[in-house]
Amino acid sequence: MSILFEEKKKIFTLQTQGTTYQMQVDRYGFLLHLYYGPKTNGEMDYLLTFADRGFSGNPYDAGEDRSYSMDALPQEFPCQGTGDYRSAAFLVKNADGSYGCDLRYQSHEIRKGKYAIPGLPAVYAKQEEAWTLEIVLKDPVTKVSVSLFYGVLPELDIITRSAKVEYAGGGTIYLEKVQSACLDFVSGEYDVISFYGRHAMERNVQRTPVCHGAQVIGSRRGTSSHQYNPMLILADREATEDAGSCYAMSFVYSGGFQGEVEKDQYEQTRALLGLQEECFSYPLQAGGQFWAPEVVLTYSKTGLAKLSQNLHECFRTHLCRGKYKDCVRPVLLNSWEASYFDFSGESIYRLAKQAAELGVEMLVMDDGWFGKRDDDNSGLGDWDVNEEKLGEPLGSLIEKINGLGMKFGIWFEPEAVNEDSDLFRAHPDWALRIPGRDPVRSRNQLVLDFSRKDVVDYVFEKICGVLDQGNIEYIKWDMNRSLSDCYSRNTCDQGRVMYDYVLGLYDFLERLLKRYPDILLEGCSGGGGRFDAGMLYYTPQIWCSDNTDAADRLKIQYGTSFGYPVSAVGSHVSAVPNHQTGRVIPFHTRGIVAMAGTFGYELDPEKLSEEEKQEIREQIAAYKKYAPLIHRGNYFRLTNPFAREVGAWEFVSKDGAEVLLQAVITQVHGNMTANYVRLKGLTEGGVYREQESGKVYAAEALMEAGIPLPIQMGDYRAYQMYFTRIS
Ligand code: GLA
Repeated sequence: MSILFEEKKKIFTLQTQGTTYQMQVDRYGFLLHLYYGPKTNGEMDYLLTFADRGFSGNPYDAGEDRSYSMDALPQEFPCQGTGDYRSAAFLVKNADGSYGCDLRYQSHEIRKGKYAIPGLPAVYAKQEEAWTLEIVLKDPVTKVSVSLFYGVLPELDIITRSAKVEYAGGGTIYLEKVQSACLDFVSGEYDVISFYGRHAMERNVQRTPVCHGAQVIGSRRGTSSHQYNPMLILADREATEDAGSCYAMSFVYSGGFQGEVEKDQYEQTRALLGLQEECFSYPLQAGGQFWAPEVVLTYSKTGLAKLSQNLHECFRTHLCRGKYKDCVRPVLLNSWEASYFDFSGESIYRLAKQAAELGVEMLVMDDGWFGKRDDDNSGLGDWDVNEEKLGEPLGSLIEKINGLGMKFGIWFEPEAVNEDSDLFRAHPDWALRIPGRDPVRSRNQLVLDFSRKDVVDYVFEKICGVLDQGNIEYIKWDMNRSLSDCYSRNTCDQGRVMYDYVLGLYDFLERLLKRYPDILLEGCSGGGGRFDAGMLYYTPQIWCSDNTDAADRLKIQYGTSFGYPVSAVGSHVSAVPNHQTGRVIPFHTRGIVAMAGTFGYELDPEKLSEEEKQEIREQIAAYKKYAPLIHRGNYFRLTNPFAREVGAWEFVSKDGAEVLLQAVITQVHGNMTANYVRLKGLTEGGVYREQESGKVYAAEALMEAGIPLPIQMGDYRAYQMYFTRIS
């Protein structure tokens, strides 16, 4: 059993293979956090300290004991209003206008299997793979109760958290802040690692010491955003890729979020992750309930590589779903950078034909095939095939492409609408807009009110109408702006709209998967603007960035790898000069970089030389050979491309028998020094043969001294070495 309850001291212990998480119901019924870290068997209530601390309030029932204060004690779900003045997980505005809540332990239940969350994505597991702990906390005065859910997946070293709020009182209360997970540390000096960026340059890595004064990341955009990723890592100051303690918190949610880390007055650290609190005010009336989205927690005592691998394995095997979850995905060619809006059925067919000859397996027709859509100023919302532009019905185009032995995929942006569209002209009130105010435009488009079921129903039917026209095997689900003007005509409680919007999005995606279980979905939001664990539940791959420049991709994919599996990273070879940067990078290098993801192309093969076409054939053959290792092996970051002129990474099969090293030297210099890359994760004492050279190496030598990357002329040279263990 992975969840234990010790009756006498009321201590809950969650055990995974390598970690322990412990909490205690104290003498007053507060749920205190005791410990999260490497596996241990003891009771950790000795860690709590009590002292009379000035200006730190005491709960009334502590009587004259001035040493008991929520302001100093580590907690599982700190509430505003209990005398804890740190950032809270839970803030309620009560029916009488007062703020605050005082939650005390009521009951608990330990169950086999992993809890699910209605309408929201969550890690799943077979009955025998997981345990659930539900702890019910209640405030008898306000009649608010909160059930904290803990999911334990012992084999994966994963603990998940979520919370359900219920209300049984009179009038209306407003949830002003609900965070899904709180990690309180009574001691320790930590760094916080977060992932910031912008459109076409997502998930840069920032590591800073946790200090006094909160460090807050988040998104107010209604999507998880390019600007900050909904994930936080807390690491010991000395922690590296290969050593030291570190913790990850990843939010399984695709809307606005907030992550906060702060050292308090007693040098204790608190980390919170959950919904964005700005503009959030969720009403509950008697009998109402609200679910906080899930947070996935994991811990590694051997550094960041293992921490990432825990998340990769969990997301790949227990969050992604569907037919393609474990399959190597079809190699695709996407029409976007090949022709943008300027195409016809004939030119799409030509692209497909050329691509098929090179070994590509699927043609994706990107934006521009519907409504009046020859640029990005009109047509969104009108999901009717533009047969005039295509020159034929969609069905017959698909048949012809299938006839080439190719699959067919298509692009949609279901959540968006242009003012210049028939849909908007018919239903101007379906867009998020504040009455009497001109809305904020972005890419000249507005956002449909997906908090409304009638809107979701309509778009769903329209899109099914397209999908039913032929054998469509892939959808790229795009979303090309941030939300604003979040006013819905369906409610007078506008503080719920952004959350309800995300529920509407998930409802749509769930219905789509039910109706078309074999379709592969790829998420996208101007590239990686909604690259989060929530989307992975529906879309097992996500277009990582609109930036296809291989040099920038080294950094973007490096940052992404901290939280997400390579099998989820949409990555394509594109033309040069690169359309986002103007940079010219060798074809071979573009191929190696794109291989660290779901491989594909985003170019017009007609414009390539014979030599390049031959290279495509070879790249696809190599990808096919290595893809199972790339997608299912353990991923190691070997260098930090932000710090070194070498980007290097590696895939090692679970049994250590196969190793694929990929590397790019971004800059050469006169009289070049050799670049050595140290391999990781090899079988100790093993002997490995490198395939191309036939050379044999001892594992320790490769891991300790490394291997020199041959010196070559020219920037951006790529290297790929495949090793097999021979003894
Ligand atoms: C977004 C996507 C691109 C492409 C365009 C189409 O920017 O990220 O890949 O699909 O939209 O408009």
